[in-house]
Amino acid sequence: TGSAEFDLSAMAVGQEITVQWRGQPIFIRYRTPEDITDMQSVPLNDLKDPAPDSARVIEGHEQYLVVIGICTHLGCVPVFNAGSYKDGWYCPCHGSQYDASGRIRSGPAPLNLVMPPYVFKTATSIQIG
Ligand code: FES
Repeated sequence: TGSAEFDLSAMAVGQEITVQWRGQPIFIRYRTPEDITDMQSVPLNDLKDPAPDSARVIEGHEQYLVVIGICTHLGCVPVFNAGSYKDGWYCPCHGSQYDASGRIRSGPAPLNLVMPPYVFKTATSIQIG
């Protein structure tokens, strides 16, 4: 069916893991409370592809960010916590930078990292697809 379940119960606060889904890398991040507060307070007019943090996560599970790990510029795989956006991602190909919501903040990529379709099955497990 193309759907897959992932157990997040072993993840620690602040951890980022990459899993595979339909041949694509999926970044799963257990965000810190500070990240969540910071991301919720970014003004929408600072964003190239404006989306509130609340639209980037599932309500009630704001600590988990789940995004497809493919740069929206030309498809490289960004690196976690390597750029100038704290707890975000840096794309080594042409320097795009994504924040802790996976939103594009600088560089040539036009769009935020894409969210795969997913639901929480329990508080600590998700089904993607
Ligand atoms: Fe990521 Fe170009 S592919 S910046």
